[in-house]
Amino acid sequence: GDAAGWAKVDGYFSDLLAPPDPALQAALAANAEAGLPAHDVSALQGKMLALFITMTGARRVLEIGTLGGYSTIWMARALPRGGTVTSIEASPVHADIARTNIQLAGLDQRVDLRVGAAADVLPGLDGPFDLIFIDADKPSNPLYLEWSLKLSRPGTVIIGDNVVRGGAVTDGGSTDPNVQGVRTFLDMIAREPRLQATAIQTVGEKGWDGFTLAVVGQG
Ligand code: DHB
Ligand code: MG
Repeated sequence: GDAAGWAKVDGYFSDLLAPPDPALQAALAANAEAGLPAHDVSALQGKMLALFITMTGARRVLEIGTLGGYSTIWMARALPRGGTVTSIEASPVHADIARTNIQLAGLDQRVDLRVGAAADVLPGLDGPFDLIFIDADKPSNPLYLEWSLKLSRPGTVIIGDNVVRGGAVTDGGSTDPNVQGVRTFLDMIAREPRLQATAIQTVGEKGWDGFTLAVVGQG
């Protein structure tokens, strides 16, 4: 049970179930070349997001935090004809890289990339979305959850990435704004009558992390 073992097993599972392909490899290479933080989801997590889309029949997907578009490519590929991913990226530099990666993957018709702070972009979007992936700056997770609920319908799936914070998520006295954002996000999910939710820890090539999974009901 160490990080090297987790990565080795991830590699084994990935090669079988989410093998590298040219567009995904090109996206990861472009992101690394540009010095983007290695905060992309893993291949297996990307496949999981794709499966969520397939399982729910989602056609309208919202992603908050594009980074280099790696998860965007996974999700866009899973959409049926006519489906779209609206993906919000605050950094114009990251968005330029993502746009190129998405074009090279042949998915520009399926991705609506919005460049700007999500706090500014979200009020201009038309819901409802069928599936929402929250994967941006963690201090804003509470705001992103509020907007996700406004842009949802009964049945909408809301996923929140990176909720473990190296284990610090359990520390109510933490002064880390990422931890505080994630803890408030979890409290809001727990208190929200419209949401049924769980949180799942993960290990693998990205180390120790986890995500929240919630579905909107009638409340
Ligand atoms: C962090 C953010 C991410 O979206 C991620 O996937 C991993 C880490 C972070 O801010 O630490
Ligand atoms: Mg993330």
